[in-house]
Amino acid sequence: MPNKELLLIPGPTPVVDEIYEALASETLAHTDPRFVSIFKESLLRTQSLFNTDGEVYVFAGSGTLAMEMAIVNTISPGEKLLVISHGYFGDRFVPLAKAYGIQVETIQAPWGQHADLEQVRQALAREKFKAVTVTHVDTSTGVMADLDALVPLVKESGALFLLDGVCASAAIEEDMQKAYGQPDYKIDIVLTASQKAIGVPPGLGIVAFGRQALAARAERKQVPAYFLDIANWRPIMDNPGRYFATPPVNMVDAYHQGLELVFKEGLQSRYQRHQALGKAVRAALHTYGMQALAEESIAAPTLSCVRYPEGVKDGDFRQALAQKGIIVAGALADLAGKAFRIGHMGNVTDADFIKAIRLIGETLQELGHSVNPQAAMDTFVEVYTQSLV
Ligand SMILES: Cc1ncc(COP(=O)(O)O)c(C=O)c1O
Repeated sequence: MPNKELLLIPGPTPVVDEIYEALASETLAHTDPRFVSIFKESLLRTQSLFNTDGEVYVFAGSGTLAMEMAIVNTISPGEKLLVISHGYFGDRFVPLAKAYGIQVETIQAPWGQHADLEQVRQALAREKFKAVTVTHVDTSTGVMADLDALVPLVKESGALFLLDGVCASAAIEEDMQKAYGQPDYKIDIVLTASQKAIGVPPGLGIVAFGRQALAARAERKQVPAYFLDIANWRPIMDNPGRYFATPPVNMVDAYHQGLELVFKEGLQSRYQRHQALGKAVRAALHTYGMQALAEESIAAPTLSCVRYPEGVKDGDFRQALAQKGIIVAGALADLAGKAFRIGHMGNVTDADFIKAIRLIGETLQELGHSVNPQAAMDTFVEVYTQSLV
């Protein structure tokens, strides 16, 4: 089933035929050995995606449920969490953790920028935090967190490092055995979802727990959750033929195929492709007078939040573009109406973006703006090609 529209919102992302076909497989019993083997292989592939020697959990739900699984299994009511937020989705950890009686402190970056490292350092020196959350790419701003700076700071303080990979996993490296400066300074949890750079429809929450995060769960007899308690899921993740709650059989089929494509491309090539796409999309849009919110050095490979040039009306632009089959998203909060968000992640190609850049240019022309779509497409191709070598 070919995609009728090019879905360039920050997720869900375009679904390719192989994944649709897997999704449309006959629905087998969740205990059928053929499905059990697909689920097992999907878990092994998830382990490879994050290069973890810990445990992975794949379940029906969205990214928010994955955030909740990470929090509820590692931090007890009354303990402290530091939220380092680069935008709307970073902020989401605050009410989520408070709902479990966790004490939350927040370091909020101005939208489009990184959090101030000195402020992070001071907060970690002043208080003992059980964990720190960082959003790898905040989907509201297109800012990518600096893991090289943040992981050592957080781990030196003794806190767990929880990474929200919803807008990054499978497009940007998230290697849980990578040592950041010291042998045991590692990412403790990556949580994510199926619908962004993995390229599968929405429907799965995915969480990888490293050894220190598992030790934090093991220290606690009980957690204030049932569906999200990994102790309930562990027997199933060890042997998916067992039952705790019915797995979303067809979504697992689709995810299995999604990861097949990820590893067929190869993780390093996939990371490089996303890096090149991000740079090239921003450079091409810049020729239309559209400026990314995040500076290039901290801009995400997966998604950009781009300000409109003077005189472009958000509603008119996105509606006219949608009529040409290109769907982009509005900006959030204070940026609503002033910027739009374009995803460049998952199973998308340079050809998709050459087309999108042309149609964005033609839309601007229709709305009365003087731009040069051919020059923008040339810029895209030049930057994309250079970034791949
Ligand atoms: C970075 C980030 N974290 C968490 C979420 C929440 O995920 P979901 O909408 O799948 O619950 C999103 C959703 O876009 C996101 O972009």
